[in-house]
Amino acid sequence: MHILIKNIKTLLQTEEGSERKSRVYGKEMAHLPGINNAWLLAENGIIKDFGSMKDIPEIRADEVMDATGKLVLPSWCDSHTHLVFAAPREQEFVDRINGLTYAEIAARGGGILNSAGKLNETDESKLYDDSLERLHAVVAQGTGAIEIKSGYGLCLEGELKMLRVIRKMKEQNIIPVKASFLAAHAFPPEYKENHEGYINLIINEMLPRVADEGLADYMDAFCEQGFFSVDETARLLEAGLKYNLKPKIHANQLHRSGGVQVGVKYNAISVDHLESMGEEEIEALRGSNTIPTLLPGAAFFLNMHYQPARLLIDAGLPVALATDYNPGSCPSGNMNFLLSLACTQLRMTPEEAINAQTINGAAAMEMEHEMGTIAIGKKASLIITKPVSSLAYLPYSFGENWVERVIV
Ligand code: NIG
Ligand code: FE
Repeated sequence: MHILIKNIKTLLQTEEGSERKSRVYGKEMAHLPGINNAWLLAENGIIKDFGSMKDIPEIRADEVMDATGKLVLPSWCDSHTHLVFAAPREQEFVDRINGLTYAEIAARGGGILNSAGKLNETDESKLYDDSLERLHAVVAQGTGAIEIKSGYGLCLEGELKMLRVIRKMKEQNIIPVKASFLAAHAFPPEYKENHEGYINLIINEMLPRVADEGLADYMDAFCEQGFFSVDETARLLEAGLKYNLKPKIHANQLHRSGGVQVGVKYNAISVDHLESMGEEEIEALRGSNTIPTLLPGAAFFLNMHYQPARLLIDAGLPVALATDYNPGSCPSGNMNFLLSLACTQLRMTPEEAINAQTINGAAAMEMEHEMGTIAIGKKASLIITKPVSSLAYLPYSFGENWVERVIV
């Protein structure tokens, strides 16, 4: 099957030659390579070739698309989601409007524990059907690769159920999926006064089963006051590493919790959230391989202060953006809205934000060899826009659906 796209106004995020970048750092993020008046040929889902219309060779294709006035870019790489959940939590949203905080709701048994209760009452097939529907919905909005976490089971059976749902979605081959094991999302009520007991349960009973069934790619933990301490996080990450689960953790959402430093210490693929950052955290990230992943959708929805993207970019770091799609802190997996948020609230330029949602997002789930740029041999996973005036129009026209077609 050959698809030829012709007369593309601009083909964005192109990589020519054999050198491939694995991520884009700091100042380089302001640069988004592209070809004006371009063509692209996909063969059986892989980018076969592309170039300028000036030099288009004779090509026979099964489908030819005309992209006059349209932009083509690599699909979004959403490296942090909790897309598998049993029910929405709009009542907590109303409670927050009426004055309660996210932390107060969590402390009285709402929040993650609320989702865990619902998840453990929901059977696997219903959970799968609902999650699959959500996956299809975000793919239609341009997401071409995704990471999904467990963490609403908080018991052996519940965590395995979530991870099996994620595996089943992986097996559907709709888009590439990575799974993170997040039993350390909250302490279940029965372990509220017995942290040691729950951590032992994760390490001695859950992890071996998860590893045995090959259910996870990464180990996650919510390192935060009132949740998992730095020492507890360190023990969990060490245990995960014994089963080859690399860390990808929740850090510094509500406080400067030490999450960034412990993540870097264990060579985390990424540390995510980062609403609360200081010089020490930035220093820890410098010279590490860990990708700072910002989740402004959660700051938006919880009405918290935003991540200091400019500081991180100015420090030369490879910033990624992800949705955090979940029923509590960000009930949206829309990467197009995220693009607008990154520009308006984090003061990222459109080019920086697109780099953060493509190549750096791919790197934050170790998919940079197959996703994140337009390069020969990578997946032909593409967003084709409606006719638009320029690249900046995409984040500018927030809320408008400018995606005309996605190819995954
Ligand atoms: O990334 N902060 C921890 N976990 C999720 C929210 C989970 C929830 O509220 O259900 C997050 O924001
Ligand atoms: Fe999250």
